[in-house]
Amino acid sequence: MAKRKRQGIIAVTGASRGLGASSALELARRGFTVACLTRAGKGIEEVPVPKRLAPRIIAERCDVTDERSVARALAAAAQRGGGLAGVLNNAGYHIRGPSAELATEDFEAVQRTNVTGVFVVAREAYPLLLANGGGMIVNMGSFFDRLGVPQNLAYAASKAAVGAITRCLAVEWAAQGITVINVAPGYIETNLNREFLSRPAVREYLLPRIPVGRLGTPREVARLVAVLFEEKLHYMTGETIYMDGAQTIAH
Ligand SMILES: NC(=O)c1ccc[n+]([C@@H]2O[C@H](COP(=O)([O-])OP(=O)(O)OC[C@H]3O[C@@H](n4cnc5c(N)ncnc54)[C@H](OP(=O)(O)O)[C@@H]3O)[C@@H](O)[C@H]2O)c1
Repeated sequence: MAKRKRQGIIAVTGASRGLGASSALELARRGFTVACLTRAGKGIEEVPVPKRLAPRIIAERCDVTDERSVARALAAAAQRGGGLAGVLNNAGYHIRGPSAELATEDFEAVQRTNVTGVFVVAREAYPLLLANGGGMIVNMGSFFDRLGVPQNLAYAASKAAVGAITRCLAVEWAAQGITVINVAPGYIETNLNREFLSRPAVREYLLPRIPVGRLGTPREVARLVAVLFEEKLHYMTGETIYMDGAQTIAH
Protein backbone atom coordinates (compact mmCIF):
# COMPACT_ATOMS: atom_id res chain seq x y z
CA MET A 1 0.00 0.00 0.00
CA ALA A 2 1.38 3.45 -0.92
CA LYS A 3 2.26 5.55 2.13
CA ARG A 4 1.03 9.09 2.59
CA LYS A 5 3.69 11.73 1.89
CA ARG A 6 4.76 13.34 5.19
CA GLN A 7 6.05 16.87 5.58
CA GLY A 8 9.53 17.17 7.08
CA ILE A 9 11.85 14.76 8.83
CA ILE A 10 11.80 13.12 12.27
CA ALA A 11 15.17 13.12 14.07
CA VAL A 12 15.78 10.13 16.36
CA THR A 13 18.68 10.30 18.83
CA GLY A 14 20.37 7.06 19.88
CA ALA A 15 19.02 5.33 16.78
CA SER A 16 21.93 2.90 16.43
CA ARG A 17 20.13 0.16 18.36
CA GLY A 18 17.42 -0.74 20.87
CA LEU A 19 14.30 1.41 21.15
CA GLY A 20 15.77 4.15 18.95
CA ALA A 21 16.48 1.76 16.07
CA SER A 22 13.05 0.10 16.38
CA SER A 23 11.32 3.47 16.46
CA ALA A 24 13.24 4.78 13.45
CA LEU A 25 12.27 1.69 11.44
CA GLU A 26 8.63 1.89 12.51
CA LEU A 27 8.44 5.57 11.56
CA ALA A 28 9.95 4.80 8.15
CA ARG A 29 7.49 1.91 7.69
CA ARG A 30 4.67 4.41 8.22
CA GLY A 31 5.98 6.77 5.56
CA PHE A 32 8.06 9.23 7.60
CA THR A 33 11.53 10.30 6.55
CA VAL A 34 13.82 9.67 9.51
CA ALA A 35 17.21 11.07 10.49
CA CYS A 36 19.12 8.61 12.66
CA LEU A 37 21.34 10.67 14.96
CA THR A 38 24.02 8.38 16.32
CA ARG A 39 27.49 8.72 17.79
CA ALA A 40 29.10 6.70 15.02
CA GLY A 41 27.09 8.48 12.31
CA LYS A 42 26.33 5.13 10.66
CA GLY A 43 22.57 5.10 11.27
CA ILE A 44 20.89 1.90 12.45
CA GLU A 45 23.62 -0.60 13.34
CA GLU A 46 21.78 -3.34 15.24
CA VAL A 47 19.69 -4.72 12.38
CA PRO A 48 19.85 -4.46 8.59
CA VAL A 49 17.60 -1.76 7.15
CA PRO A 50 15.11 -3.31 4.69
CA LYS A 51 15.82 -2.10 1.15
CA ARG A 52 12.35 -0.59 0.71
CA LEU A 53 12.86 1.65 3.79
CA ALA A 54 16.42 2.76 3.03
CA PRO A 55 15.41 5.76 0.87
CA ARG A 56 13.50 7.20 3.84
CA ILE A 57 16.34 6.84 6.37
CA ILE A 58 19.38 9.12 6.59
CA ALA A 59 22.25 9.17 9.10
CA GLU A 60 23.88 12.08 10.92
CA ARG A 61 26.64 11.91 13.49
CA CYS A 62 25.52 13.26 16.87
CA ASP A 63 26.64 12.98 20.48
CA VAL A 64 23.89 14.40 22.69
CA THR A 65 26.46 15.44 25.31
CA ASP A 66 28.07 17.82 22.81
CA GLU A 67 25.77 20.75 22.06
CA ARG A 68 27.60 21.80 18.92
CA SER A 69 27.22 18.32 17.51
CA VAL A 70 23.48 18.40 18.37
CA ALA A 71 22.96 21.77 16.65
CA ARG A 72 24.87 20.66 13.56
CA ALA A 73 23.10 17.31 13.26
CA LEU A 74 19.60 18.75 13.67
CA ALA A 75 20.28 21.54 11.17
CA ALA A 76 21.66 19.03 8.66
CA ALA A 77 18.67 16.70 9.17
CA ALA A 78 16.22 19.59 8.65
CA GLN A 79 18.06 20.69 5.55
CA ARG A 80 18.18 17.21 4.03
CA GLY A 81 14.62 16.35 5.03
CA GLY A 82 12.74 19.45 3.91
CA GLY A 83 12.30 20.80 7.44
CA LEU A 84 12.20 19.28 10.93
CA ALA A 85 8.77 17.83 11.79
CA GLY A 86 9.68 16.17 15.07
CA VAL A 87 12.26 14.70 17.40
CA LEU A 88 12.46 11.45 19.34
CA ASN A 89 14.75 12.25 22.26
CA ASN A 90 15.75 8.65 22.89
CA ALA A 91 19.51 8.44 23.59
CA GLY A 92 20.03 7.20 27.10
CA TYR A 93 22.63 5.85 29.49
CA HIS A 94 22.16 3.61 32.51
CA ILE A 95 24.37 2.66 35.41
CA ARG A 96 23.50 0.73 38.52
CA GLY A 97 25.19 0.30 41.87
CA PRO A 98 24.83 1.06 45.56
CA SER A 99 23.99 4.75 46.15
CA ALA A 100 26.38 4.92 49.11
CA GLU A 101 29.25 4.22 46.70
CA LEU A 102 27.98 6.15 43.68
CA ALA A 103 30.73 8.48 42.46
CA THR A 104 29.67 12.06 41.73
CA GLU A 105 31.11 11.84 38.23
CA ASP A 106 29.06 8.71 37.49
CA PHE A 107 25.90 10.41 38.75
CA GLU A 108 26.67 13.45 36.60
CA ALA A 109 27.48 11.37 33.52
CA VAL A 110 23.98 9.89 33.62
CA GLN A 111 22.38 13.33 34.00
CA ARG A 112 24.55 14.70 31.21
CA THR A 113 23.19 12.22 28.65
CA ASN A 114 19.67 11.64 29.96
CA VAL A 115 18.77 15.13 31.21
CA THR A 116 21.08 17.76 29.70
CA GLY A 117 21.04 15.85 26.41
CA VAL A 118 17.23 15.85 26.28
CA PHE A 119 17.11 19.56 27.11
CA VAL A 120 19.78 20.56 24.58
CA VAL A 121 18.20 18.52 21.78
CA ALA A 122 14.80 20.12 22.49
CA ARG A 123 16.30 23.62 22.66
CA GLU A 124 18.21 23.22 19.40
CA ALA A 125 15.17 21.65 17.71
CA TYR A 126 12.89 24.52 18.75
CA PRO A 127 13.72 27.08 16.02
CA LEU A 128 13.70 24.35 13.37
CA LEU A 129 10.28 23.09 14.49
CA LEU A 130 8.98 26.67 14.53
CA ALA A 131 10.25 27.18 10.99
CA ASN A 132 8.25 24.08 10.03
CA GLY A 133 5.05 25.43 11.62
CA GLY A 134 5.29 23.52 14.93
CA GLY A 135 5.85 19.82 15.54
CA MET A 136 6.23 17.01 18.01
CA ILE A 137 8.90 16.15 20.57
CA VAL A 138 8.69 12.70 22.14
CA ASN A 139 11.05 12.15 25.05
CA MET A 140 11.99 8.64 26.15
CA GLY A 141 11.52 8.50 29.90
CA SER A 142 11.09 5.42 32.06
CA PHE A 143 8.65 3.99 34.59
CA PHE A 144 11.53 4.30 37.07
CA ASP A 145 10.52 7.98 37.28
CA ARG A 146 7.84 7.01 39.81
CA LEU A 147 9.55 4.12 41.55
CA GLY A 148 12.08 3.80 44.35
CA VAL A 149 14.57 1.44 42.75
CA PRO A 150 17.55 0.30 44.80
CA GLN A 151 20.89 0.86 43.05
CA ASN A 152 19.28 3.01 40.35
CA LEU A 153 19.38 6.47 41.90
CA ALA A 154 21.14 8.30 39.06
CA TYR A 155 18.98 6.76 36.33
CA ALA A 156 15.65 7.12 38.18
CA ALA A 157 16.43 10.76 39.02
CA SER A 158 17.32 11.45 35.39
CA LYS A 159 14.03 10.00 34.13
CA ALA A 160 12.02 11.98 36.70
CA ALA A 161 13.75 15.07 35.29
CA VAL A 162 12.71 14.04 31.76
CA GLY A 163 9.09 14.05 32.94
CA ALA A 164 9.56 17.56 34.38
CA ILE A 165 11.27 18.83 31.21
CA THR A 166 8.36 17.41 29.19
CA ARG A 167 5.76 19.26 31.27
CA CYS A 168 7.67 22.58 31.23
CA LEU A 169 8.28 22.55 27.48
CA ALA A 170 4.71 21.46 26.74
CA VAL A 171 3.35 24.46 28.62
CA GLU A 172 5.92 26.92 27.27
CA TRP A 173 5.68 25.86 23.62
CA ALA A 174 2.00 24.88 23.33
CA ALA A 175 1.01 28.16 21.69
CA GLN A 176 3.71 27.61 19.05
CA GLY A 177 2.09 24.33 18.00
CA ILE A 178 4.80 22.15 19.56
CA THR A 179 3.53 19.04 21.34
CA VAL A 180 5.78 17.38 23.94
CA ILE A 181 5.14 13.88 25.27
CA ASN A 182 7.10 11.62 27.60
CA VAL A 183 6.93 7.90 26.80
CA ALA A 184 7.84 5.87 29.89
CA PRO A 185 8.47 2.19 29.13
CA GLY A 186 8.75 -0.57 31.68
CA TYR A 187 11.11 -3.53 31.19
CA ILE A 188 11.88 -3.86 27.49
CA GLU A 189 14.68 -6.24 26.55
CA THR A 190 17.49 -4.31 24.81
CA ASN A 191 21.27 -3.90 25.11
CA LEU A 192 20.65 -1.61 28.08
CA ASN A 193 19.47 -4.48 30.28
CA ARG A 194 19.91 -7.75 28.34
CA GLU A 195 22.50 -9.21 30.69
CA PHE A 196 20.56 -8.13 33.81
CA LEU A 197 17.22 -9.47 32.51
CA SER A 198 18.76 -12.79 31.49
CA ARG A 199 19.66 -13.66 35.11
CA PRO A 200 17.29 -16.42 36.33
CA ALA A 201 16.83 -14.75 39.74
CA VAL A 202 15.85 -11.46 38.10
CA ARG A 203 13.31 -13.14 35.79
CA GLU A 204 11.90 -15.13 38.72
CA TYR A 205 11.40 -11.92 40.67
CA LEU A 206 10.15 -9.73 37.85
CA LEU A 207 7.79 -11.79 35.69
CA PRO A 208 5.18 -12.47 38.40
CA ARG A 209 5.12 -8.72 39.11
CA ILE A 210 4.16 -7.80 35.54
CA PRO A 211 0.39 -8.40 35.14
CA VAL A 212 0.75 -8.80 31.36
CA GLY A 213 3.12 -11.68 32.20
CA ARG A 214 6.16 -10.82 30.10
CA LEU A 215 8.73 -8.18 29.23
CA GLY A 216 7.80 -5.59 26.63
CA THR A 217 9.27 -5.59 23.13
CA PRO A 218 11.08 -2.73 21.36
CA ARG A 219 8.48 -2.97 18.56
CA GLU A 220 5.65 -2.25 21.01
CA VAL A 221 7.38 0.93 22.19
CA ALA A 222 8.16 1.85 18.59
CA ARG A 223 4.50 1.47 17.61
CA LEU A 224 3.40 3.78 20.41
CA VAL A 225 6.02 6.35 19.40
CA ALA A 226 4.98 6.14 15.75
CA VAL A 227 1.29 6.56 16.61
CA LEU A 228 2.12 9.74 18.54
CA PHE A 229 3.92 11.21 15.50
CA GLU A 230 1.17 10.00 13.18
CA GLU A 231 -1.80 11.30 15.12
CA LYS A 232 -0.30 14.61 16.34
CA LEU A 233 -2.80 14.97 19.18
CA HIS A 234 -1.82 18.48 20.22
CA TYR A 235 -4.41 18.58 23.03
CA MET A 236 -2.50 15.73 24.71
CA THR A 237 0.72 17.49 25.61
CA GLY A 238 3.01 17.41 28.65
CA GLU A 239 1.84 13.92 29.62
CA THR A 240 3.83 10.87 30.61
CA ILE A 241 2.50 7.69 29.00
CA TYR A 242 3.49 4.56 30.88
CA MET A 243 3.91 1.32 28.94
CA ASP A 244 4.91 -1.26 31.51
CA GLY A 245 2.43 -4.14 31.26
CA ALA A 246 0.65 -2.57 34.29
CA GLN A 247 3.64 -3.31 36.52
CA THR A 248 3.63 -0.04 38.45
CA ILE A 249 -0.11 0.09 39.07
CA ALA A 250 -0.55 -3.52 40.15
CA HIS A 251 -1.77 -3.96 43.71
N1 LIG B 1 15.17 -0.97 27.64
C1 LIG B 1 14.35 -0.62 28.59
O1 LIG B 1 13.84 -1.46 29.34
C2 LIG B 1 14.03 0.83 28.79
C3 LIG B 1 13.02 1.12 29.71
C4 LIG B 1 12.68 2.44 29.93
C5 LIG B 1 13.36 3.44 29.24
N2 LIG B 1 14.35 3.13 28.37
C6 LIG B 1 15.00 4.24 27.69
O2 LIG B 1 14.95 4.06 26.30
C7 LIG B 1 16.06 4.71 25.68
C8 LIG B 1 16.78 3.74 24.77
O3 LIG B 1 17.27 2.68 25.56
P1 LIG B 1 17.57 1.23 24.98
O4 LIG B 1 16.98 0.26 25.93
O5 LIG B 1 17.23 1.15 23.55
O6 LIG B 1 19.14 1.19 25.21
P2 LIG B 1 20.40 0.78 24.29
O7 LIG B 1 20.06 -0.40 23.46
O8 LIG B 1 21.53 0.71 25.25
O9 LIG B 1 20.55 2.04 23.35
C9 LIG B 1 20.93 3.29 23.88
C10 LIG B 1 21.14 4.23 22.73
O10 LIG B 1 21.53 5.52 23.24
C11 LIG B 1 22.67 5.94 22.52
N3 LIG B 1 23.49 6.88 23.27
C12 LIG B 1 24.02 6.73 24.50
N4 LIG B 1 24.71 7.82 24.85
C13 LIG B 1 24.64 8.67 23.78
C14 LIG B 1 25.14 9.96 23.50
N5 LIG B 1 25.90 10.62 24.38
N6 LIG B 1 24.85 10.54 22.30
C15 LIG B 1 24.10 9.90 21.40
N7 LIG B 1 23.60 8.66 21.60
C16 LIG B 1 23.88 8.07 22.77
C17 LIG B 1 23.40 4.67 22.17
O11 LIG B 1 24.27 4.94 21.10
P3 LIG B 1 25.69 4.21 20.85
O12 LIG B 1 25.37 3.10 19.89
O13 LIG B 1 26.52 5.28 20.25
O14 LIG B 1 26.21 3.73 22.18
C18 LIG B 1 22.22 3.78 21.79
O15 LIG B 1 21.79 4.02 20.47
C19 LIG B 1 16.93 5.24 26.80
O16 LIG B 1 16.63 6.61 27.04
C20 LIG B 1 16.47 4.40 28.00
O17 LIG B 1 16.70 5.04 29.21
C21 LIG B 1 14.71 1.85 28.12
